[in-house]
Amino acid sequence: MRVRTYKSPYAARVADEILPTWLSYPSGWFCLGFSRQWKPGDVHTRPFMGTDVPVHRTREGKLRADPLPVREAHGIVWVGHTRDRTPPGWEIPSFPESFVSPHTYCAVEMAGHPQDVMENFIDHRHIIELHGVDFLDVLTEAKADGPFFSVTYRVGRSLPFCSTVQDIRVQFIGLGAALMTIELSRYRLTAAQWLLVTPVGPGRIRYWGAASATVAPSFRLPSLPRHGIERLVGFGMNRWSLRDSRADWPIYHHKAYLPHPRLNSEDGPIGAFRHWARQFSSDGSDR
Ligand SMILES: [Fe+2]
Repeated sequence: MRVRTYKSPYAARVADEILPTWLSYPSGWFCLGFSRQWKPGDVHTRPFMGTDVPVHRTREGKLRADPLPVREAHGIVWVGHTRDRTPPGWEIPSFPESFVSPHTYCAVEMAGHPQDVMENFIDHRHIIELHGVDFLDVLTEAKADGPFFSVTYRVGRSLPFCSTVQDIRVQFIGLGAALMTIELSRYRLTAAQWLLVTPVGPGRIRYWGAASATVAPSFRLPSLPRHGIERLVGFGMNRWSLRDSRADWPIYHHKAYLPHPRLNSEDGPIGAFRHWARQFSSDGSDR
């Protein structure tokens, strides 16, 4: 898989030059790739927190990334990090739906911090201003549950030939992953869009998009066209999400972190999010 490097057109200072804010790596589970990229006997090296980590699949099919703890869940390969180098005290959650394993993925590297990428999803006002959303209603208020944080939105968008209304559930799995579940009930489709962030070096992140889609079982279709539609929708969703997120890239790349931003009621639950995010910082501070 080719990983692109983001080239900013702006002359502003790049986030990874703004030290020492960027020195700490958050704890949690972070994506190093996707299960199907490792066949038995394969070794692939991946950048992670300033080092190159060799990830090996044994002949028996088990993944090893010694000395880091490694997990495979939802078709994604995760490695764990904590300050004292023990495995995180929590696991990647399971989901009842089978659709969450992505079958298409892409990645880009840039300056930034995982927390900024995740905070982007609950910054309501910017979603309207930057992403061309006509309205955003909160259906289920933001809720923290240990290392997980979730919120459900209804968003309306005007597209060239139609307008859409989508219900989107966003579930954060630590600061390394956000899973968006999007109901397209009009088309009897459910899409799962993952946005994954891996700290690869001081102030540098790898930003992954991965997606899958499922046609509702009630929509009777032979398996061949069903899988064809699911693949096509997943691929299109991932492309579209990455394209939509491009508006955020210069912000991640150049952002300076403000510990005490001036917020108003339209900015979303950023205070609650930052309070939740403290559990992942190396010293219990804001970052
Ligand atoms: Fe955004």
